[in-house]
Amino acid sequence: MAGGFSVSASASASSGTEFEAKITPIVIISCIMAATGGLMFGYDVGISGGVTSMDDFLREFFPTVLKKKHEDKESNYCKYDNQGLQLFTSSLYLAGLTATFFASYTTRRLGRRLTMLIAGVFFIVGVIFNGAAQNLTMLIIGRILLGCGVGFANQAVPLFLSEIAPTRIRGGLNILFQLNVTIGILFANLVNYGTAKIHPWGWRLSLSLAGIPAGLLTLGALFVVDTPNSLIERGRLEDGKAVLKKIRGTDNVEPEFNEIVAASRVAQEVKHPFRNLLQRRNRPQLVIAVLLQIFQQFAGINAIMFYAPVLFNTLGFQSDASLYSAVITGAVNLLATLVSVYSVDRVGRRMLLLEAGVQMFLSQVAIAVVLGIKVTDRSDNLGHGWAIMVVVMVCIYVSSFAWSWGPLAWLIPSETFPLETRSAGQSITVCVNLLFTFVIAQAFLSMLCHLKYAIFAFFSAWVVVMSLFVLFFLPETKNVPIEEMTAERVWKQHWFWQRFMDGDNHHIVNSAGKINTV
Ligand code: BGC
Repeated sequence: MAGGFSVSASASASSGTEFEAKITPIVIISCIMAATGGLMFGYDVGISGGVTSMDDFLREFFPTVLKKKHEDKESNYCKYDNQGLQLFTSSLYLAGLTATFFASYTTRRLGRRLTMLIAGVFFIVGVIFNGAAQNLTMLIIGRILLGCGVGFANQAVPLFLSEIAPTRIRGGLNILFQLNVTIGILFANLVNYGTAKIHPWGWRLSLSLAGIPAGLLTLGALFVVDTPNSLIERGRLEDGKAVLKKIRGTDNVEPEFNEIVAASRVAQEVKHPFRNLLQRRNRPQLVIAVLLQIFQQFAGINAIMFYAPVLFNTLGFQSDASLYSAVITGAVNLLATLVSVYSVDRVGRRMLLLEAGVQMFLSQVAIAVVLGIKVTDRSDNLGHGWAIMVVVMVCIYVSSFAWSWGPLAWLIPSETFPLETRSAGQSITVCVNLLFTFVIAQAFLSMLCHLKYAIFAFFSAWVVVMSLFVLFFLPETKNVPIEEMTAERVWKQHWFWQRFMDGDNHHIVNSAGKINTV
């Protein structure tokens, strides 16, 4: 390797030294601004459950559901089982999972920052459509535009955060995205709690207030600098170095700069990032990214997040009390995410996921048992004490999700793909996440109707599977610099993934700057 260095393992990678980096105000402020992309995602996730349980909204767009809701003969578990209603919630996810592929192109070619700006514009137009909706078509078009915003934002924001952050606090800063998701959900729950009392246009206010997060992201994207990795990837080496000095608070950025330049040389050679993603040596990251998303959704969180008000209604709480419970779960979700911000770079990713697995499993089983014994098809009679117990169990479940699968399913893919496939990899991540979010959103009400309480047993079985996956297949990525997340440093050390590295071709950038494959 004389006279050059391997992109897969630079000198600093093998010694494991850290680059010089101060925690500068500009990094913190940039991350806070960019992370508002999560706010919009969270608001959209959180708002639909409350809105779809408001009578005024149902009367205007889904009169048959309204009728069913007030008919006593309908089974408790089946009141809301309506494909049209589910499509309102789901259309956003379908749009998002398609849009993310366009966003992959823009994050690579136009940069992370501009992609966030595009997301902001989509959000603003979508909010206008939704807030002003006169008919179902306008409502769905609005949701689709918001979905495009989610596709662009969820593509760009996690990458932005992981790239701009100093290694030792990368996990914590990346989780600001998820923290914003949870703030968005809570904000949406609070808004619904208030607007449910405003007749007949409370729902309109709920949908319009999404303008606040939309505006924040747009402003944020105007003010932040792009990441050095993205600038260098697009050939703007000097700008990249200047930004690196600014964000790291030191002039001594040469080692990190060189590492990014080397990674970007390889990236420029790659003409078809999605095809590259399928190469054997990229298998571990790809498999991990895809499975983390599927598992995140099959943990069942959105069954609770979208439908908490509906769910609590089903359990026999009155309309107001059910929104109240949704606010409680929203608050728990937010506070528990802070635990993750604090601990992810200390105890590591694996530890959080494994601990949470136990907690999620036990709480879901408990919920299934209580509902199974206490809620029958026709009787709302859960009883005060049992109802409280269910809410407590839901909170235990939500808190453990919030410090594990919630943030880490976004963090880990954004930090494990090499620069050359990072945008493509993130697209797959967003696409699979939204696809399965869609599946759950579309299927949950029907599943609740057919499986009844066993739906929680179903999710708990998935928790076992995903915890075993973490135990055996997920390497720890805490404290590994992002451009060193490579074969030598990570995958060749792993008992299983090392087999994908055998006979692997390595790109070597020689001193003349040429890439050789050895
Ligand atoms: C998930 C969302 C979920 C949210 C809950 C996110 O990480 O991707 O689907 O609604 O967490 O906090």
